[in-house]
Amino acid sequence: MINLGVLISGRGSNLQAIIDACESGKIPAKVAVVISNVATAGGLERAKKHNIPVVVIDNRQYKDKNTYELEIVKALQAHKVELVCLAGYMRIVGQVLLEHFPMKMINIHPSLLPSFPGLHAQKQALDHGVLITGCTVHYVDSGCDTGPIIIQSAVPIMEKDDENKLAERILAQEHLIYPQAIKLIAEGKLKLEGRKVRIK
Ligand code: GRF
Repeated sequence: MINLGVLISGRGSNLQAIIDACESGKIPAKVAVVISNVATAGGLERAKKHNIPVVVIDNRQYKDKNTYELEIVKALQAHKVELVCLAGYMRIVGQVLLEHFPMKMINIHPSLLPSFPGLHAQKQALDHGVLITGCTVHYVDSGCDTGPIIIQSAVPIMEKDDENKLAERILAQEHLIYPQAIKLIAEGKLKLEGRKVRIK
């Protein structure tokens, strides 16, 4: 059983998928704490319903990123977190978090990286005119959505798609692959070779 710390900023549907996978025994992990930088994030209510400790750390209250992230690190350590899962966490991760959790931090992104990193990935894909997009779970490094890729799932773009319809179909895949990636890590099945993630 590994302890997860989930960082959110919003509604928390990926958080919910992770909680459900843990509680149903599909993955040998437990959500030990949920941390949000936004006090009104819907994901906080989801966590509370499952009696998971929540912590709000509002980035705007701190003089700089390092001080802010140190507070997050303290909360993660206090709950003995071994793997940090970013799930709709809308801040770029800085040096302090990366140093404390090197290759122990993963993220979900709604595109097939390295295409369309950053914000509004679904809109970027539609605007570009690609026929297939999807989602990616990857390790977090110092770049924006650039870390080694763990799992991807492809989602075809339909003729009548708009940003919302596409986002919804991608989200359904996110909810499948995020728990799968956590399971692989929790079972010690991943090995990193350069930027390639191998399954043992
Ligand atoms: C998801 O699309 C995720 O890929 C992106 O932000 C969104 C978060 O949604 N990083 P939710 O808060 O998990 O519902």
